[in-house]
Amino acid sequence: MMPADTVALVTGGTSGLGLAVARRLLASGVTPVVLGRSEERGRQALKSLGDTAVFVRGDVADEADVTAALDVALRHGTLRIVVNCAGVPHAAKVVGRNGPHALGRFVDVLTANLVGTFNVVRLAAERMMRNEPSEQERGVIVNTASLAAFEGQVGQAAYAASKGGVVSMTLPLARELAGSLIRVVTVAPGFFETPAVASVPGAARRELDLDLVHPGRWGHPDEFAGLVAHIIGNPMINGETLRIDGAVRMSPGLRRRSS
Ligand SMILES: NC(=O)c1ccc[n+]([C@@H]2O[C@H](COP(=O)([O-])OP(=O)(O)OC[C@H]3O[C@@H](n4cnc5c(N)ncnc54)[C@H](O)[C@@H]3O)[C@@H](O)[C@H]2O)c1
Repeated sequence: MMPADTVALVTGGTSGLGLAVARRLLASGVTPVVLGRSEERGRQALKSLGDTAVFVRGDVADEADVTAALDVALRHGTLRIVVNCAGVPHAAKVVGRNGPHALGRFVDVLTANLVGTFNVVRLAAERMMRNEPSEQERGVIVNTASLAAFEGQVGQAAYAASKGGVVSMTLPLARELAGSLIRVVTVAPGFFETPAVASVPGAARRELDLDLVHPGRWGHPDEFAGLVAHIIGNPMINGETLRIDGAVRMSPGLRRRSS
């Protein structure tokens, strides 16, 4: 049970998995401060979440933006929860029809998914360390990876590298922050119905569907949020990456025609 003044920073919380997490936290009495890049999406998110939620515009990879979001969070209560859902999808072959993968795109994907996650963790942890412990912990940080961290498909070199980095830093972060009574856990989702995947072309979607096992459908964001809520409430889960994928193991994606 979180203390009544608990605030959670939810990055990417204006849509998809992050919005579902913000909604779940709100229902449990936690004030979600949602960080996102788009003012318009932020407005829409607040419309669906209600007045208790807070939106802050910003980029997770930007030190000033994240610092400002943390300042806002602290004005609303005690920051005990961070859920990093901000991230960008990306698919492009290493050598495609138009030549080699653009180096700048590789850097962009790493910056949003990996550097951004680390930036939020480092700045939030420093604030959480000042909390009075509640039930022997000062805070919990949940990051979001992907199955691509383990079985990246053709066209996912950049995305897999970014999510693999999130997985790899989970244990060293948890080990270091243990001394401050802060847990760090990563969730690796399989296929979930969110705005990000709405743009996946039909052929690619049908190919992904072949990898479904049981249940034979894509996940609902609320099922992801349910796992995050369990992680937040269960002090024994720490330093680990949990898959939530209905037994999916992604195939190589050799027929994928990303360029
Ligand atoms: N949906 C899936 O099937 C799936 C599978 C595996 C992993 N994931 C991961 O889950 C997370 C959430 O994905 P989603 O499907 O809900 O996507 P989404 O596009 O609905 O939500 C992601 C949000 O992050 C925001 N964002 C992106 N870069 C940002 C930045 N630099 N700063 C601040 N905000 C930023 C976007 O604006 C968006 O609102 C992502 O990290 C994604 O890689 C999703």
